[in-house]
Amino acid sequence: MAEGPETWHYGLVAEWWAEFNDDGPEIAYFQKFVESGQPSLDVACGTGRLLVPYLKAGLDVDGCDVSADMIALCREKAESAGVSPTLFVQPMHDLDPPRAYRTIFCCGGFGLGSDREQDAQALRRFHECLEPGGTLVLDNENPYVREYPWRYWVRDERVGIPRAWPPLEEEERRQGSDGAEYAQQSRVLDIDPLEQRATYEMRTAMWLGGELTREEHHTLHLNYYFTNELRLMLEDVGFADVVLHGDHEVEPPTRDSDFVVFIAKKPG
Ligand SMILES: C[S@@+](CC[C@H](N)C(=O)[O-])C[C@H]1O[C@@H](n2cnc3c(N)ncnc32)[C@H](O)[C@@H]1O
Repeated sequence: MAEGPETWHYGLVAEWWAEFNDDGPEIAYFQKFVESGQPSLDVACGTGRLLVPYLKAGLDVDGCDVSADMIALCREKAESAGVSPTLFVQPMHDLDPPRAYRTIFCCGGFGLGSDREQDAQALRRFHECLEPGGTLVLDNENPYVREYPWRYWVRDERVGIPRAWPPLEEEERRQGSDGAEYAQQSRVLDIDPLEQRATYEMRTAMWLGGELTREEHHTLHLNYYFTNELRLMLEDVGFADVVLHGDHEVEPPTRDSDFVVFIAKKPG
């Protein structure tokens, strides 16, 4: 097997997620699937942006993530909300949960850190860990959504990467609940359009009392998938009746959708 996933969701990046990522249209969108198919598993649950509100609503949901730091912060948030979920640290391609599920969902996690063989293996694990008749709900951001970094798919543009970091002092800071200030920057280190793969670097900094006390750099590998390709991959591992939604709304995607959500059935 290839090396473990390389993702940047550790240390200060995990703390940033816990501090600043707790809303978004995905929460209500995925909740409908969980309500109609329990028990459910949140794959790549992060710090519990979706999971914690679902648990508070009384839904039967477990969570897993490759990052022990994200899971630890998710557990803290769950405990402050008075719930104690089953959480485990696992890369999705080695998914081995304690029970089978009616719904497995993955929001913003597919293709991160892994290689393409691991991504195909993750889809096989999702299929294996669903009950017959169960549903997988998986979102995917289209590779062409943003001009940066889409322009680096063109060979002549790639000479400009990696770009120099802008001065950290000029970056906008956000204040955390602990009174510390945080700033975050990211840049593309490489894009391989043949492999449909990017490597990003993130730097996150923290100031206490106006003094820079921590600065961390983390790397993320990311595999890009186009819609027809991902649909074929799902069908290849045995999923059927694949329905597509655009941008976390119960509508078919259009050419202007940023996200495509794949809703796929394990045959009963
Ligand atoms: C963008 S965050 C999304 C978190 C959460 N799903 C949400 O929407 O708030 C991506 C998460 O995927 C996790 N992750 C990245 N690669 C993974 C992998 N190969 N297997 C499992 N989790 C992974 C990261 O640790 C991180 O918590």
